[in-house]
Amino acid sequence: MAALGKICLVLAGLAIGTVSAIPTHPKACRNIPGDPRWPGPRAWAQLNATVGGRLIATNPIATVCHDPSFSAEACAQVEGQWNVAGVMTTRPAEIMAPWFQNQSCAAFTDRSLPCELGSYASYSINVSNARDMAAGIGFARQHNIRLVIKNSGHDFFGKSTGKGGLSLWTRNLTQKKAIHQYRAPYYRGPAVKIGAGVNGKEAAEFASQHGYRFVVGSCPTVGPAGGFTQGGGHSFLSGVYGLGADNVLEWEVVTASGKHVVATPTRNTDLYWALSGGGGGTYGAVVSMTSRVFPDGAIALATLGFNASVVGGPEAFWASVGAVLAQLQPLVDDHGAVAQLSLTHDTLSIFGLMVPGATKPTLATLLTPLLTTLAQTSTALTTTTLNLAIHANTTYTGLYAATVEPLTARIILPPVIGGRFISRANWAANAPAILAALRTTTANNTFAVAITALNTRGTARHTAPPVAPNAAQPAFARAFLSVIVSATWARETQPPWSAAVALQARYRDVIGPALERVSPGAGAYANEANWEQARWQDVFYGSTYPRLRRVKARYDPGGVFYGLTAVGSEGWAPDAAGRLCRV
Ligand SMILES: Cc1cc2nc3c(=O)[nH]c(=O)nc-3n(C[C@H](O)[C@H](O)[C@H](O)COP(=O)(O)OP(=O)(O)OC[C@H]3O[C@@H](n4cnc5c(N)ncnc54)[C@H](O)[C@@H]3O)c2cc1C
Ligand SMILES: *[C@@H]1O[C@H](CO)[C@@H](O)[C@H](O)[C@H]1NC(C)=O
Ligand SMILES: *[C@@H]1O[C@H](CO)[C@@H](O)[C@H](O)[C@H]1NC(C)=O
Ligand SMILES: *[C@@H]1O[C@H](CO)[C@@H](O)[C@H](O)[C@H]1NC(C)=O
Ligand SMILES: *[C@@H]1O[C@H](CO)[C@@H](O)[C@H](O)[C@H]1NC(C)=O
Ligand SMILES: *[C@@H]1O[C@H](CO)[C@@H](O)[C@H](O)[C@H]1NC(C)=O
Ligand SMILES: *[C@@H]1O[C@H](CO)[C@@H](O)[C@H](O)[C@H]1NC(C)=O
Ligand SMILES: *[C@@H]1O[C@H](CO)[C@@H](O)[C@H](O)[C@H]1NC(C)=O
Repeated sequence: MAALGKICLVLAGLAIGTVSAIPTHPKACRNIPGDPRWPGPRAWAQLNATVGGRLIATNPIATVCHDPSFSAEACAQVEGQWNVAGVMTTRPAEIMAPWFQNQSCAAFTDRSLPCELGSYASYSINVSNARDMAAGIGFARQHNIRLVIKNSGHDFFGKSTGKGGLSLWTRNLTQKKAIHQYRAPYYRGPAVKIGAGVNGKEAAEFASQHGYRFVVGSCPTVGPAGGFTQGGGHSFLSGVYGLGADNVLEWEVVTASGKHVVATPTRNTDLYWALSGGGGGTYGAVVSMTSRVFPDGAIALATLGFNASVVGGPEAFWASVGAVLAQLQPLVDDHGAVAQLSLTHDTLSIFGLMVPGATKPTLATLLTPLLTTLAQTSTALTTTTLNLAIHANTTYTGLYAATVEPLTARIILPPVIGGRFISRANWAANAPAILAALRTTTANNTFAVAITALNTRGTARHTAPPVAPNAAQPAFARAFLSVIVSATWARETQPPWSAAVALQARYRDVIGPALERVSPGAGAYANEANWEQARWQDVFYGSTYPRLRRVKARYDPGGVFYGLTAVGSEGWAPDAAGRLCRV
């Protein structure tokens, strides 16, 4: 089925490609550089003047790794920073997902290969306000070119880039404002307003300085007002305060028609609902987000791990993995814990099990059943061999900076990634088969797994129900585990790109389907999944899809905003030359 779909796509691409080489229906495809209707220098200069000189022509950072601009010294520096979030997020047009960089101008590839823009956006506006956004949107519409919104560039599906695109680069929208008494029919209490470019670390630290906690992701540079909250947004704090999307009070947005509007639970309510979890880069360009925040205070985190040699072989290892997951369930269901762990064929590492509200002694007590069970599973598993450590602080950011941040800040995406939820019902019905599927997934070290264990509807949520109904995937509410599968990829050794293509096929045809078979109906997190997911409308959006499609049609009938697997994107596909065309 998937293979058949693939062939059809390729054939459709060829057919459209032949037609659009001589564009008889120019409106059917977005113009790309070289097309007769691609805007000329005068048009770009005019746009640049309109946005106060903030237009940037794309110059990929790996230009210096290729002839004729090759420089051994400069390239070595780029290689050292290549795809590190802290670097890519500060530059216009750079993204983090290697599959979508597509090696068109990459570090670690042969210097004799040309540096080409490929699927990079052609220009970026260094957006400073809503007017700049409206100017960019208007220009893209007038010239029928592709519009892109890039915040941090973390997107797994390359949704923050696009061939021939004009990108709204939001990183410099850095406004932050504490509102100690937000007053609305739907909420009274503390709030923080952030510009679209503020990253998770900055938002959390700002909130902390005012005595509050902000629901942000585990990677410091992910953008809370961008794809994170717009796509749902799970956090170490989600067991107590829910998803990012559950906490939105206001979105300030520029729509496809260039209107500057505010969407709240009582104003432009459809837009509020869709933006809160219905997917980034789809319904409008967000200028700012106002979020509910919570009083800061005690918080604790544990780390522990073990490997197959410690417990005495693969059978004992997988039995212990099963014991850990089983014991995490009461912690996430009843105590608001969220745990993140990495898992390979022979090593499990819980790099963060966070419990908001807990102190060191209370977390130690909460962990007793887990430790007792592990000791029963293998006598080799003691607090010493597990390297058990418990950290605590009086602020989320203090704890985060000392524990999780140094680890997650270093994450570099491989070319092939996938994901799947395991629901609480799946786990209850089928834990042995789920463990077997994780074992097959990680076999031979071809893929590794990162798991977030959480319950966004657990008993600890009673103090913070969602601000208002939102479009976060219904599957999130049922999830126990959110699993990310990452291909093992040693980029320094320059594996041939055909190896990435083979890994993608293996994920799509074997690994992904095997995970789906053991988790019927569980869905996958639209922000952390594989771009070739079959039936993505259902898997990523579930029952919200029809309503999201109506909101999309109402606010963006012309399809100004596009992203692979974004709502409404089935109406578009690239032709052979990479133009985005209506299908
Ligand atoms: C290392 C790493 C760690 C992660 N950790 C977590 C985590 O803990 N929890 C979690 O839930 N997710 C996590 N994610 C996934 C993350 O939430 C998504 O990649 C998300 O889309 C990033 O949003 P962004 O705005 O930072 O990135 P971008 O790639 O810049 O944007 C993502 C999408 O949002 C759109 N967008 C961005 N800004 C705007 C705007 N102002 N208006 C409209 N659309 C916009 C873009 O067009 C694009 O479609 C992680 C990802 C990575 C790579
Ligand atoms: C836009 O104008 C600024 C200031 O005049 C200039 O520095 C910049 O190079 C221009 N951008 C483009 C793409 O020409
Ligand atoms: C704009 O963003 C860049 C890159 O993150 C940063 O270096 C610079 O300080 C920012 N400037 C402002 C005014 O926010
Ligand atoms: C990568 O580039 C090749 C051509 O070099 C193209 O066929 C393919 O569609 C591109 N893939 C992506 C994800 O852009
Ligand atoms: C973008 O604009 C900000 C000011 O808002 C400025 O500090 C920064 O240097 C600009 N970045 C680039 C790459 O032009
Ligand atoms: C397994 O864990 C033990 C104890 O932490 C450690 O000493 C050993 O080096 C690890 N072995 C492997 C193969 O990682
Ligand atoms: C809490 O965090 C702050 C800020 O990072 C740090 O200075 C302090 O030492 C931490 N306290 C403890 C008990 O670890
Ligand atoms: C692991 O590798 C072995 C030997 O190369 C192979 O026979 C087996 O099928 C592989 N297993 C998986 C799950 O890929």
